[in-house]
Amino acid sequence: MAALVVGAGQGIGLGFVKQLLEDNRVDRLYATYRNPDSELLTLGDPRLSCLPLDITDETQIATLITKIQAETSVLHWVINCVGVLHNDTMQPEKSLRHLNTDKLLHYFQVNSIGAVLLAKHVQPLLKHAIAPSSPPSPPK
Ligand SMILES: NC(=O)c1ccc[n+]([C@@H]2O[C@H](COP(=O)([O-])OP(=O)(O)OC[C@H]3O[C@@H](n4cnc5c(N)ncnc54)[C@H](OP(=O)(O)O)[C@@H]3O)[C@@H](O)[C@H]2O)c1
Repeated sequence: MAALVVGAGQGIGLGFVKQLLEDNRVDRLYATYRNPDSELLTLGDPRLSCLPLDITDETQIATLITKIQAETSVLHWVINCVGVLHNDTMQPEKSLRHLNTDKLLHYFQVNSIGAVLLAKHVQPLLKHAIAPSSPPSPPK
């Protein structure tokens, strides 16, 4: 089985990668990251390919899928863990007074638009009849 985990540099995505590498049904695992210092890049499993991706850039999504398609024509699992709620410069809004156009646009670009653009580009790899017997469990 082949899987793609998007947003695998830390958190839930990195947890999914570790869990999928424990699963002997997985013979090919693609994982995306932004931070080159991520623990992901130290895992060193021959089944794992780590590819850079900023999900707000559709060209990067298209390039990612082209690279995967050069090696496989099917993916059995695609797990998108990219998301932003807060970071060093943005805190979750607790009041309407805190709403700000630039922040809202950034949330939508990362959390919503990125996900549908990923779906648009990855769709050809999901058009097959081979279903895994059960989906991977979320990381504990
Ligand atoms: N953890 C929880 O209990 C929980 C509960 C409910 C919902 N969630 C939501 O689930 C999502 C994942 O949670 P998490 O705890 O794993 O969060 P996290 O540790 O902050 O991880 C978020 C991931 O998204 C990636 N990312 C952010 N912006 C990106 C972009 N523009 N392009 C590509 N990747 C990008 C980050 O990459 P970098 O490593 O490069 O920053 C990171 O890998 C978040 O939306 C979070 O709000 C989490």
